[in-house]
Amino acid sequence: MADNTTADKKKLFIKTYGCQMNVYDSERMAEAMGGAGYETTDTPDDADMILLNTCHIREKAAEKVYSELGRFKGLKADNPDLKIGVAGCVAQAEGKEIMRRQPLVDLVVGPQAYHRLPEMEAKTQQGVKALDTDFPEEDKFEKLKGRSKAKRAPTAFLTVQEGCDKFCAFCVVPYTRGAEVSRPVDRVLTEARDLVERGVREITLLGQNVNAYHGAHNGGDMTLAGLIWELNKVDGLERIRFTTSHPNDMMDDLIEAHGSCDKLMPYLHLPVQSGSNKILKRMNRNHDRESYIKLIERIRAARPDILLSGDFIVGFPEETEQDFQDTMDLIEEVKYGQAFSFKYSTRPGTPAAERPLVYDAEASERLYRLQALIAQQQRAIQDSMVGRNVNVLFEKPGRLEGQMVGKSEYLHAVHVADANAKIGEIKRVRIVESERNSLGGVLVSD
Ligand code: 5AD
Ligand code: SF4
Repeated sequence: MADNTTADKKKLFIKTYGCQMNVYDSERMAEAMGGAGYETTDTPDDADMILLNTCHIREKAAEKVYSELGRFKGLKADNPDLKIGVAGCVAQAEGKEIMRRQPLVDLVVGPQAYHRLPEMEAKTQQGVKALDTDFPEEDKFEKLKGRSKAKRAPTAFLTVQEGCDKFCAFCVVPYTRGAEVSRPVDRVLTEARDLVERGVREITLLGQNVNAYHGAHNGGDMTLAGLIWELNKVDGLERIRFTTSHPNDMMDDLIEAHGSCDKLMPYLHLPVQSGSNKILKRMNRNHDRESYIKLIERIRAARPDILLSGDFIVGFPEETEQDFQDTMDLIEEVKYGQAFSFKYSTRPGTPAAERPLVYDAEASERLYRLQALIAQQQRAIQDSMVGRNVNVLFEKPGRLEGQMVGKSEYLHAVHVADANAKIGEIKRVRIVESERNSLGGVLVSD
């Protein structure tokens, strides 16, 4: 029998919300559905199946999903065979409520059950709605068919750890993604080697709490640093990154790796959330401002040029102007090259949900001030790159004719206009200009 031609294939449109783990999951779901006769499309208009891979971290994210679903009404009316699915953390948290609130949804699958997606899709073809929000015993990554062998972009995400045991008072992750689980070292290495064969040069290891990684290895456990050293030996892999980390799991071997492991990039996302000890305590963060700053000093001693990134929440219940000022002072002290900041959003079922809120206008104003400070720091660090030589992994053509863009080791976007800059190659670049969101440079030969 001849292979399926493109024309025979059904079309799958996936829209991904939220974190990088969802980006990885969407890729795996697309591959799993590839085995069920689907290929991906970048528009919902001609799709046979639409899948929203959702995020539940803040309130508005779930509402966005419902309004997006509403927009598919017309498509479903035009094509009654169109299947609509919801995956990810909203699926996990809301379960069949989604089908109740939006009857055009055919399928709801949680983040721990998506290896069952092909069976679920088959069920929907029989006209039966499919729901699976289990936390099954089996390893979903093992149940998923081997990853495709097709050539791919030079950077990739690889999930090595899922779930979180930290229970920060504001966060739904421990409930939606469950307890911390690490994938065994050998399986991660096999997947990494497969990615490298397909053209990947940079791997970002993902986990909700990735530095708590403790993957099975030779009858024992291996830390994230151990895993990074194993990956450091993989020929053809040039760069390793990881995200997201908790300060309390930033162990000595990981800090040392930042000083000595040549493929580990000098960039670290280490959220602190607040600079006020009172608020950190109420957030159940189990660290204080002083220990965080000391930790940053140790990391910088190991790798002085490391670029730091963080997450901040403003307007956490009972945050006073002084508490907020403590956060601003901490930012002044640390100096971030990048940061993500959010207004506190009440998540039902979390401990903080019962507490008195800060006035919304006050929280908005604090967010504005905090973002202005971060933008200023980000700008200063980006501008300080001008005149320096960096290594750029080229990823894709740029906006302008003849341009190629890639990332420096510090994760700055860098563009050059040079035919010798080729996708998948790392080249030395002298930075000559700092623009709004990127740096411009020229290839150099040193
Ligand atoms: N409200 C606002 N921000 C939140 N985050 C997590 N939960 C909430 C919430 N309820 C932020 C934290 C976390 C990031 C992924 O999202 O800063 O580090
Ligand atoms: Fe949520 Fe805290 Fe776990 Fe991060 S460490 S996922 S913020 S509970």
